[in-house]
Amino acid sequence: MEKKANNQSHSSRKVEAKPSAAEGLRELFIDELKDIIYAERALVKALPKMANNATDASLKTAIEEHLAVTENQVERLVKVFDLLGESNRGVKCDAMEGLLKEGESILEETEAGPVRDAGIISASQKIEHYEIASYGTLVAFAKILGEEEVAGLLQETLDEEKQADAKLSETAYHSINIEAAEEE
Ligand SMILES: [Fe+2]
Ligand SMILES: [Fe+2]
Repeated sequence: MEKKANNQSHSSRKVEAKPSAAEGLRELFIDELKDIIYAERALVKALPKMANNATDASLKTAIEEHLAVTENQVERLVKVFDLLGESNRGVKCDAMEGLLKEGESILEETEAGPVRDAGIISASQKIEHYEIASYGTLVAFAKILGEEEVAGLLQETLDEEKQADAKLSETAYHSINIEAAEEE
């Protein structure tokens, strides 16, 4: 059986596959799903404030559109939990709480206008990147566990998060960052 060289070099620390490994991975998978559904629900509550505080019309629209997408992502996760026969109750996600707190302080420290908009984009992109990392892992876990339908649903959300991130970058490059710099 062929193995990559860098796997072999770590053989002293290698965790041997046990019969319970799949069970352990499934448990981790469910835990991380509970984390992300909490995070998405927290976002549904937080995004309207972000949109209200944005000045640039295209940024406001982008956030409002992503709010609708996020609401649908919560529904998609509920479906994932149903398919897995698990409760969709979330577990507090400290990472998302921290990211949202950071977004809050940007609103406190800035006045309405291009600089605040740049701050909102910055906070939003950190959130999107957290989601991209989370869903990337979840898709991989679902595939390893043979949960193909679940993997497909999570992949749809992953694609949406990547689109949201790209949209934010576009908004930043095309208007806001330049205006923010000119305000100096
Ligand atoms: Fe999301
Ligand atoms: Fe998102």
